[in-house]
Amino acid sequence: MEKLIDESVQGAALLLDKSIKNSRKLYIESYGCQMNFSDSEIVASILAAEGFNTTDRLEEADLVLVNTCSIREKAELNVRKRLEKFNAIKKNKPHLKVGVLGCMAERLKSQLLEEEKIVDMVVGPDAYKDLPNLVREIDAGRNAVNVLLSKEETYGDIAPIRLHSNGVTAFVSITRGCDNMCTFCVVPFTRGRERSRDPQSIVQEVRELWNKGFKEVTLLGQNVDSYLWYGGGLKKDFDKATEMQKATAVDFSDLLRLVAEALPKMRIRFSTSNPQDMTLKVVHTMAAYRNICNHIHLPVQSGSDRILKAMNRLHTRVEYMTLIENIRNIIPNCGISQDIIAGFPTETEEDHQDTLSLMDHVKYDFGFMFTYSERPGTMAARKLVDDVPEAVKKRRLEEIIALQRRHSLYRTKKYLGKTEEVLIENSSKKSDAQWMGRTSANTVVVFPKEGYVIGDFVNVKIMDCTSATLLGNAVGLSENN
Ligand code: 5AD
Ligand code: SF4
Repeated sequence: MEKLIDESVQGAALLLDKSIKNSRKLYIESYGCQMNFSDSEIVASILAAEGFNTTDRLEEADLVLVNTCSIREKAELNVRKRLEKFNAIKKNKPHLKVGVLGCMAERLKSQLLEEEKIVDMVVGPDAYKDLPNLVREIDAGRNAVNVLLSKEETYGDIAPIRLHSNGVTAFVSITRGCDNMCTFCVVPFTRGRERSRDPQSIVQEVRELWNKGFKEVTLLGQNVDSYLWYGGGLKKDFDKATEMQKATAVDFSDLLRLVAEALPKMRIRFSTSNPQDMTLKVVHTMAAYRNICNHIHLPVQSGSDRILKAMNRLHTRVEYMTLIENIRNIIPNCGISQDIIAGFPTETEEDHQDTLSLMDHVKYDFGFMFTYSERPGTMAARKLVDDVPEAVKKRRLEEIIALQRRHSLYRTKKYLGKTEEVLIENSSKKSDAQWMGRTSANTVVVFPKEGYVIGDFVNVKIMDCTSATLLGNAVGLSENN
């Protein structure tokens, strides 16, 4: 159900290689999780075949698309502000068309067209292959909508074009949708039922990335551990599969093994894991392959059994702690990160203390922490009153963030004096004389550039740290180059 949201890239416009034949200009902006950014690459690829080159200059666009997120109310408000801006531009540029894609399109459907009259086109996350028809509709002056959710669509056959890429790290989507029905979450409604992509097309995409010089892939899905390929179809219909399909099915650990063996020097990451679906088979597979990174993003949401139950998280606090203990036994240096929600309906001070004590027990490397935001249509919105006052939610969130900062520092300090393999991704944001990369456990490392280049695997001796960053010096190329 969950995806990381990188605040630094929210709204980034996407720019592709230009095809000379194409004459129209597409400006596409993305919000929300990495899956949305990845989908925008698919959309741009579909529209490139329809005569559109992308631009990052709004003023020269013929078509503006906004790939939207509904996870919290604030995400939707940000998009609405952008739509107002695009509408203001439209007043002076009547031929400009505006389309909404993604989760808000799916949630609000034709409301955006009919009641609010702020856009020309509304396209849900499973309908991007219909974009050529929909664009023809708006070209003819009609509004266009397709918000059908699909049982099969994985876009496995579309070659995404990598955008604003560092040429080293890329995302590859492996599942779409989510069947978990956490009561706070809008994703099952906006992205539909869970389906997995053909493993051969995944391996193929990773191989092509390797051939283009990429060194790290992150396998993406709302719930990657639930990956299951048995020839296509919904995860929930696996019971009805034939004996042969069941015998030859590929689960997430099999998929990891397939990718790790096909490209033994490619670093492999994955996100996001759901505690109730993560198996020890996956953890053992991670331990067995050097190129599968030692990091698990394992959202817990709350440390209180009562709240976990109200959230329909299908595990208890103790089960979660046991999973953590097993992970640490199998991969002692595994990085573990969290998502936590403060102020879910009915959350008491005692429940909040349970969250803090669970954090103290795990001491996560890092995390993404939010106040609860009621989403229309979810089970929590239908059955529970959003009764924790905003000020209390904020105070609890601040306590959670402060504690996480202490734990992050505790974790980064453990690296002092050690030598870690780092894949160079980019120049450091703070200094052009320094490289930025990550350890296997996903901790950011910054070090002087010397003669190294982007894409090198470098052994770095860690000399200093903050709660978020390790600072060090390169001691040579690692054997993975
Ligand atoms: N309110 C606040 N946070 C939410 N998340 C998901 N839905 C909500 C909501 N309604 C958080 C969860 C999830 C992350 C991607 O966003 O922590 O793991
Ligand atoms: Fe991603 Fe949609 Fe969820 Fe936002 S609401 S995080 S875009 S799946």
